[in-house]
Amino acid sequence: MNHFEYRDGTLFAENVSVEKLAQEHGTPLYIYSTATLTRHFQAFDSAFDEIPHMTCYSVKANSNLSVLRTLAGLGAGMDIVSGGELYRALKAGVPAEKIVYSGVGKKAGEIRQALEADILMFNVESTAELAAINEVAASMGKVARVSFRVNPDVDPKTHPYISTGMKKNKFGLDLTQAMDAYREAARLPNVEPIGIDCHIGSQLVTLAPFMEALEKVLDFYRSLKNIGLDIRYLDLGGGLGITYDEEEPPHPREFGLALTSAVRDLPVTVILEPGRVIVGNAGILATRVVYAKHTPSKDFLIVDAAMNDLVRPSLYGSYHRVDEVTPKGRKKLSVDVVGPICESGDFLAKDREIPAMETGELLALFSAGAYGFTMSSNYNTRPRAAEVLVDGDQAVLIRRRETYEDLTALED
Ligand code: LLP
Repeated sequence: MNHFEYRDGTLFAENVSVEKLAQEHGTPLYIYSTATLTRHFQAFDSAFDEIPHMTCYSVKANSNLSVLRTLAGLGAGMDIVSGGELYRALKAGVPAEKIVYSGVGKKAGEIRQALEADILMFNVESTAELAAINEVAASMGKVARVSFRVNPDVDPKTHPYISTGMKKNKFGLDLTQAMDAYREAARLPNVEPIGIDCHIGSQLVTLAPFMEALEKVLDFYRSLKNIGLDIRYLDLGGGLGITYDEEEPPHPREFGLALTSAVRDLPVTVILEPGRVIVGNAGILATRVVYAKHTPSKDFLIVDAAMNDLVRPSLYGSYHRVDEVTPKGRKKLSVDVVGPICESGDFLAKDREIPAMETGELLALFSAGAYGFTMSSNYNTRPRAAEVLVDGDQAVLIRRRETYEDLTALED
């Protein structure tokens, strides 16, 4: 359920018309809904109410400060993967004790920054990283709380670029290596192993891979208990998928129920790192038609958003629903919706049945709240889009559109 709906023949974000927002702020424009963010966070978080848990929103999905503040206000912790994300999370008011730090390449400076902030724990992905964390912590006279990310070798059946828990992926440690790593961590003076972490991929639309991974993690948990380690946290990562098109992912309630039943009796706090399921359908990208172009073999709608604004279709072949903001009942054509960038890979939708639209008319790309703006770039020296957050009747510009001066500001 989200709060983007057609009313009186035009698309609304909550109680604000998308036409009006586009008029006021220009296009391309990311529009997010506070009610949807809130609803999604609460639906997810309450699915784990029966057990001690922390929902640490995955900042990479949408890291706008206002989005982070909204979620922090609802009690969210955060999953971060860089010093930059740590900076954002702290700036948004997230308490350090609700922050977990994942990622394969944390640098010494970033480790120091996280230890200074005193975050809850590092999700460690290699023994080299463990040594680095121990060394930095020693130099600061601190003990770093860690868990290891285990790689359970489970196929999440999603796009290969966003599968992370298979042997061939760079992420985590296989279970044998992980056991050695825990023994090593137990010996080192400046790290304390307190958890186990596992994240197998993104946009998962069935429960089976999650449950297969969880079973392996629980076996591993018991082995760690047997060697006397005090494991208090199970971080089960993110990955729950959303509906872009016809997918029918499990509802967070079902997901919560399945996970909760498997861990209910353990003396642990479960950490979840959802990203897409919270923000994906809480955002759209509004764009205007620049030209309709008809060729003997194909029809194109050239719009003012491009792969630099929303790269998912170009990068993963992802589907985003595209619709007129104000439908006029015209006959539909099969078109490619493309941007102005000089690459044939610059498309937002291919072979879509869309009404014959004209210059200046508005389109909405749906499900653009996750990995939309955060993956955008300035390719072709295009200023990045503005972002607006709607709350009921109010809309606030939460990131202004970049200017040409912004684009050259860091250069000589
Ligand atoms: N935790 C870790 C350690 C992760 O690497 C990720 C996502 C998440 C949590 C959040 O996963 P989610 O709940 O959003 O599925 N750019 C791609 C998705 C990349 C996901 C990377 N890691 C896309 O646009 O589909």
